[in-house]
Formats: sequence, structure tokens, C-alpha cells
Amino acid sequence: TDPALPYKVRDLGLAEQGRHQIRLAEHEMPGLMSLRERFSGSQPLAGARIAGSLHMTVQTAVLIETLVALGAQVRWASCNIFSTQDEAAAAVAVGPDGTPEDPQGVPVFAWKGETLEEYWWCATQIMLWPEGEGPNMILDDGGDATLLVHKGREWEGLGAVPSAQPEDPEEWKVILETVRAGLAEHPTRWTDVAAGVRGVTEETTTGVHRLYQLHEAGELVFPAINVNDSVTKSKFDNVYGIRHSLLDGINRATDMLIGGKVAVVCGYGDVGKGCAESLRGQGARVVVTEVDPICALQAAMDGYQVATLEDVVGQADFVITATGCKDVVTAEHMRRLKDKAVVGNIGHFDNEIDMAGLARVPGVRRTEIKPQVHEWTLAAEHLDGTQRPERSIIVLSEGRLLNLGNATGHPSFVMSASFSNQVLAQVELFTRPDDYPLGVHTLRKELDEDVARLHLGALGADLTELTKEQAAYLGVDVAGPYKPDPYRY
Ligand code: NAI
Repeated sequence: TDPALPYKVRDLGLAEQGRHQIRLAEHEMPGLMSLRERFSGSQPLAGARIAGSLHMTVQTAVLIETLVALGAQVRWASCNIFSTQDEAAAAVAVGPDGTPEDPQGVPVFAWKGETLEEYWWCATQIMLWPEGEGPNMILDDGGDATLLVHKGREWEGLGAVPSAQPEDPEEWKVILETVRAGLAEHPTRWTDVAAGVRGVTEETTTGVHRLYQLHEAGELVFPAINVNDSVTKSKFDNVYGIRHSLLDGINRATDMLIGGKVAVVCGYGDVGKGCAESLRGQGARVVVTEVDPICALQAAMDGYQVATLEDVVGQADFVITATGCKDVVTAEHMRRLKDKAVVGNIGHFDNEIDMAGLARVPGVRRTEIKPQVHEWTLAAEHLDGTQRPERSIIVLSEGRLLNLGNATGHPSFVMSASFSNQVLAQVELFTRPDDYPLGVHTLRKELDEDVARLHLGALGADLTELTKEQAAYLGVDVAGPYKPDPYRY
């Protein structure tokens, strides 16, 4: 049988500190706490073995312990090398009833500042269960756990793991190695894991995008619930969560005044809207770049200048990417930035900013100001042929999502809405598999409205109730749902 390690975190001694933060977070997460109450008797996740890959923060700790309260067994890794809060990881591993000397919590494999090798090792650990079992559910953020199982199975099915091509990016080589190592220990590992998984619930835009691509290619091997596109996820977390945590990240990293400065936000989707609003709230002059005419028009009507990065990069004090696309800020853009301009990404993956290209600029020098804050100095003679003094730019979290790398991600209240959707999605997929055939599904609108309801009371919001006559006039039920599916909120 496979050795299923109990946990690997930075320091179990941080557990008490983490537990205090979890206690305060629980107060701010009314949705998750009410779901614990609602389901504590029926235990709908009894028998579920959930492999979770999602930023190991304090809020995620409350999610994990909610899944456990509903009967699930859980193993957890973070979905980003910088996003773990070590005290939260320690508290979850120790558990509410354990001590650092006698940990009794959930097996967590996560610490802040993993190498890529360690990251993919952690991803493998959540797939290894005692007695050689695998998980029967995946809870994913960005799709790395799903990708590992799919790629592992595909390569194993081919009878050979392909060898890394020279043009493969560094991370892809690590994934190949991870799959290979897994097979050396257990030759049918990935086929076995894939066969045991009933489904995945996916947290973010980028992961959902990957799932639809997999399904369109006919390669998806288990059903998926797209949690991101619950209204109470993407129209809240991606907007209001970002509105809070973008500034938190910039402030903790740089402490630079934002008012009066020029801030360029690349992408005006849900995340971009939250970024632009928060920067404008600080008094920045915000410029938006977009490829989609609808979003560009929204930005213009919201009062932002809409321009191309090429045209405005020389005036920018801050450039923030929020596109979920690649190569948005190129090395050439960065060479044209002002002295001490700040560049950061808040999209899921680190390919929005061409860090490899920046590292290849002749004569470039990287200085660590503090962890996850780096100054890149560009030598004068290498700047597009002209003579200009040496200058430098500040890059946050090495191009990885800065709100989790430089700060602690979204605040608890908004994550309560996101994670309530995650819990309901896990319950749905685990208890009603016949309702979710192979494919990518969203949660029913009743559940979306339910999540919103669970959060209104805590904000002192009183909902108006339709009369029977009003409901009949609108053609809806008094208890909802209130909107047809195409409604966009
Ligand atoms: P979205 O699809 O609503 O918005 C992305 C926008 O970027 C779209 O409007 C698109 O037209 C635009 N875009 C694409 N390529 C572009 C380019 N080359 N230049 C300018 N604009 C471009 O997606 P959403 O929900 O806003 O998410 C964006 C990213 O943020 C995703 O990777 C998502 O996974 C991630 N995310 C990160 C969070 C965090 O806490 N850091 C929270 C939620 C989402």
C-alpha cells in the first residue's frame, strides 16, 4: 500500500495562533456555519474522501472543518506555492481537539513558499489515502488536481509518460516528473484514482475554463460542478473580494500611496471590475485594457479610460493583470515602465506577466526587497537603444496572484459565500450523482439564492417578500427562484 503521510506543514507550533484566527473567521462566515447546523444530523458527506487543492488560508480552514462536520474525510494541499497561511495549515493539521504533540486534524500538505517540485509533491499527497485508497471527490481551485489525475491517467494509458520537450515550460517538466514518480510506486495509480473519483467541484474562472476545454475535447473523465459561475461566487468573491484584497496586497508589499497615481488594470471581467473600483476608491486614475468590446464599453461607461497597454505603459505607476490570459504584460512593456513602477498579477496563473522574458533582458538584476517583493533593475544601455538612466520596477509575488502572495487573500465574509457554494456542490455531486452526468454543471438557482439568504441576516438586511398576487404577476414562486437562467445580475 502507498504510504499516506499524516501531514506536512511549516510548524505545528503555529496551530494556536491559527486556531484563534479560525475562531474569528467562523464568526464572519455565517453561510458555512449555518450549513454545519443544517447538515450536522444528516451527515451527507459521510463516506466522502475529498482531495482538496485550494489556497490553504484561514478561510479555507473553516471550509475544511465544515466538510469534516458534514461527515467527509479530507486531505488538503494549496493551489499556489505562495498562498498558504502557515498558522492556518498548522491549526487544521492539529485539529480543534488535538495538540501539536498529538495532532488529530486533517492531513494538510502546504506551506508558504513551496518550490514547484514541492507543490506537485503536495498535490500527489492528497491523492494517496491510507490503505491505498484514492479520493472519491476532488475540490479544486484552478484545476491542478484535476489536471494531475487526467494527465496521469492519459499518459499511463499510453503506456509511457512522454519525455519533457526542451520547449516545455519548467512547470510542465515538473508535472511529468510527478506523474512518473507516482507510477514508479504504483503502476496504475492515475487510472485507479480517476476511476474512483465521482466528480470535482471547481472554484475559479481559470479552472472552469480548463474543465470546459477538457469536456469539449471529449477528455473529461468525471463530472464537474462549476462553482465559479454561481452568482453568489463570481459576482461577489471575484468582485468584492478582490476590491478588498488587491489593495491589501499592494499595501503590504509596497506601502506606496495610490491616490493621484496612474493604475492600469488589464481585463475588466469580474476581477478587473473589483480591481478598478478599489484603485479608484484610493484616488488613482485608472486605465483599463480589454479585448472584449462589451467589457471595454462597460469600463468606459463606468468612467475609466480604455486604452491599449502599449499606449499607456509609460505613464503607469501600477500595472495589474486580471485577465486569466497569457503574455499580457511582456518584457518589452516592462522595459518601458517608469522608474519604481509596480507590476502585479491577480489572475490565477503566473503566465499573465512574462517573468521569464524579464529575466532574459540583458543586464537585468533582481533584488529581493522582502519575500514576494522583488526589484528588477534594468541597465540603461539595454533600454530600447536610447540613453536613459538606470531604473527599476517592483514585481509582486514573482508574477503569481498577489492578493494571496503578498497578503492573505479575500476576507472571510465573502469567502463564506464562495465556500457555501463549494459545500453545496460537494453535497450535490456526492449524494445525487444521477443528476450530474459527465459534463460541467452549475448549481441550481435555488441553491444560489439559498447561499445569498444565509448571508443577509448577518448584514442586517431585511428582504421584501412577494405577495402571492405579485408572484403570480411576475410568474415566479413566492419562495423563488426569482430570475430566469439567462439573467446576468
Ligand atoms: P473574466 O473572464 O470575467 O474576466 C477576464 C477579462 O479579461 C475578460 O473580460 C477578458 O475579455 C479580458 N481579457 C482577456 N485577455 C485579455 C488581454 N490580453 N488583455 C486585456 N484583457 C483581456 O474572469 P475573472 O472572473 O475576472 O477572472 C480573471 C482571473 O482571475 C482568472 O484567472 C481567475 O481564475 C482569477 N481569479 C483570481 C482571484 C484571486 O483571488 N486572485 C479570485 C477570482 C478569480
